[in-house]
Amino acid sequence: MSLRSDGHQWGSVAKFFHWIVALGILGNGVWGLLMTDMAPSMSKISIYALHKSIGLTILALFALRLAWRLYDRAPPDEPMPPWQRIVAHATHVLLYGFILAIPLSGWIYNSLHGYPLQWFKLFNLPALTAKNDELSHVAGEVHEWLFYLLLLVLIGHAGAALKHHFFDQDNVLRRMLPFARVRQGKTSSGELT
Ligand code: HEM
Ligand code: HEM
Repeated sequence: MSLRSDGHQWGSVAKFFHWIVALGILGNGVWGLLMTDMAPSMSKISIYALHKSIGLTILALFALRLAWRLYDRAPPDEPMPPWQRIVAHATHVLLYGFILAIPLSGWIYNSLHGYPLQWFKLFNLPALTAKNDELSHVAGEVHEWLFYLLLLVLIGHAGAALKHHFFDQDNVLRRMLPFARVRQGKTSSGELT
């Protein structure tokens, strides 16, 4: 498998970014929901700090992934009706938007609340805004609701990938999976060309 994408499948760097960010953002979201229900304690502070550090890592991965995406050419779309292509591309743009907006809204919330911010206890990061208790409540809600919206869009995104795989039996999912081999000469209707 080559580092760069080719005419048939995504390269290993693009696959790495896709799956590490997918796992990270979902895991960190569930972690966020669980941690807010914890009783106040010293370990709650460490658990919050870990949530923020993982979230900041995802923000950094977003920037790296975008840079790689601009450098690496995406494989050409699998054959599919034009409306599916448009919806798929719009969904991908939306998903990129969530990968940026969710950690950024967390950082803004953290700043408005006046909490300190460190990356894995290694270095401090600055606040993005001045402390503001009223606005911090809104930012907290936005942070949480962005995650629920991501889950909603993800149902369509993952559902479409699974539909392509199991019903159309084309390469859409296979060419993004880490160790799967794409089937040469398969069309979206599953016929051999
Ligand atoms: C992948 C990135 C992230 C995801 C998916 C995520 C998701 C969530 C979710 C679902 C909650 C629970 C909200 C609630 O129940 O009120 C939460 C809470 C929180 N998040 Fe994030 N978050 C991410 C990144 C960040 C970052 C980068 C920061 C700060 C720099 C941050 C700061 C916080 C804080 C302080 C809370 C607690 C809110 C409260 O106590 O009500 N998050 N996050
Ligand atoms: C939170 C989780 C996820 C996020 C944020 C996400 C995000 C994205 C984004 C932004 C792209 C577009 C890549 C590009 O054009 O640069 C993409 C492609 C893709 N995703 Fe996801 N994804 C997630 C989960 C999943 C899951 C669970 C599946 C499978 C069940 C999946 C299957 C795919 C496939 C097959 C492609 C390639 C589509 C193509 O080649 O045209 N993704 N994803």
